[in-house]
Amino acid sequence: MNTDILTIAIDGPAASGKGTIARAVAAKFGLRHLDTGLLYRAVAARCLQAQADPADPDAATQIAQTLKPADLARSDLRSAETGRMASVVAAHPPVRAALLRWQRDFAVEAPGAVLDGRDIGTVVLPDARAKLFVTAEADVRAARRWRELSQKSDIAYRDVLRDIEERDARDAGRANAPMRQADNAATLNTTEMSIDRAVDEAVRLIDAQLTA
Ligand code: CDP
Repeated sequence: MNTDILTIAIDGPAASGKGTIARAVAAKFGLRHLDTGLLYRAVAARCLQAQADPADPDAATQIAQTLKPADLARSDLRSAETGRMASVVAAHPPVRAALLRWQRDFAVEAPGAVLDGRDIGTVVLPDARAKLFVTAEADVRAARRWRELSQKSDIAYRDVLRDIEERDARDAGRANAPMRQADNAATLNTTEMSIDRAVDEAVRLIDAQLTA
């Protein structure tokens, strides 16, 4: 990889704050940003639209291999159903293989990029110059996600919590590229932090890795 390209990996579970942190870090370092969860969400949304079963590896793989940039602009990507199904399609190795290339191609374009997801520091960009693993207690994450989702739909907190716990288990338990903290990633626990404080802390941890 070209050493002039700056790549930063930010991983963590749902609603840990990694997306907001990744956007802010990208702006701070003048890098592009890719929310890799959107790729899996887009595959899931197209599966649902085609009435294909997201658990069927062949259907999901065919969609992953023909994913287009326009699919990432769909309006249904942030729904709870799409998130749930994203973690189902994400367990199929050929789906991950198809999306791996997309993510790496994005990352290596100058001046570099911040990617956030589940396996960025471990699989997608193992040589990233800085790595963060952002966590928070499940009930706090569920409350954050419920606040977002309840603005658009009528959804119960307990369903959001159950969803998050099921998704954590599926994402951490899959055989292929499970959600896991890279050995050389710094941990950022945002349970008791405002988002502003979490961003400041993230920038501090990344600066420390870049200057080490
Ligand atoms: O926004 P939230 O954290 O809820 O989820 P997301 O980042 O949009 O990811 C949705 C789903 O895609 C996750 O539950 C994972 O199953 C999958 N995903 C993945 O497997 N690998 C990634 N690098 C990013 C997302």
